[in-house]
Amino acid sequence: MIATDNLHIRFKAVHAVKGVTFAVGKGESFGLVGESGSGKSTVLRALAGLNRDYTGSITLDGAPLPPDRPKGFFRRVQMVFQDPYGSLHPRHTVDRCLSEPLAIHAIADTDRRIRKVLDEVALPERFRFRFPHQLSGGQRQRVAIARALILEPEVLLLDEPTSALDVSVQAEILNLLADLRGALGLTFLLVTHNLPVVAHLCDRVAVMEDGQIVELLATDAFREGRVSHPRTKALLEAAA
Ligand SMILES: Nc1ncnc2c1ncn2[C@@H]1O[C@H](COP(=O)(O)OP(=O)(O)O)[C@@H](O)[C@H]1O
Ligand SMILES: [Mg+2]
Repeated sequence: MIATDNLHIRFKAVHAVKGVTFAVGKGESFGLVGESGSGKSTVLRALAGLNRDYTGSITLDGAPLPPDRPKGFFRRVQMVFQDPYGSLHPRHTVDRCLSEPLAIHAIADTDRRIRKVLDEVALPERFRFRFPHQLSGGQRQRVAIARALILEPEVLLLDEPTSALDVSVQAEILNLLADLRGALGLTFLLVTHNLPVVAHLCDRVAVMEDGQIVELLATDAFREGRVSHPRTKALLEAAA
């Protein structure tokens, strides 16, 4: 569904991504794990079209994507960020936040779509005209997920979607994401440094170190500790 081939990304002095290749199948949930600074977000941002300055190829459903993404791309692929407070405009209501993508893509049935997506993320309609500061962290992340879903995409790119939340709320959002994937047949590419998150949500994981994928595993192998690379072992030990 979405794949990279020999992806390289450089910032002035830093070669942040060094030849990353992987392919996520339709309906699959694929995890990218690694320590902070290993290049996970940089890969995801390039996939999302937020960083056009890469070499190598990125394909969607087998078709190579131009670095400057066509508008239609965003109807198929959406991203959810770590910090829902930072990613939601503080002076826009939930309603406005959800209407905007529809207006950009000239989709007319705004009211029906907003009610549908609020229902999907289990936010009662009374939240529709509230501002971000009137919501809890978990509710804000539900809004961010709703915004990603409102164009009815096929792929969600998720960058540490629960790391900014209280531990008590993390499981709630993870369960919601798992349910949504099943109900909507979504493909997930999930970036995290958090192993329980990977175990909960992913079928396969790629372990990144210093801009490269060092090991690719099925999640049950990961969960059961059947791993070979020292970085993977270190991530498991850090989580134990
Ligand atoms: N906009 C940027 N400018 C310069 N360096 C960057 C930028 N974004 C990321 N980097 C560097 O690229 C490397 C990978 O960062 P990142 O992808 O954010 O890692 P991760 O998400 O795994 O924590 C780090 O060394 C980081 O400092
Ligand atoms: Mg990151």
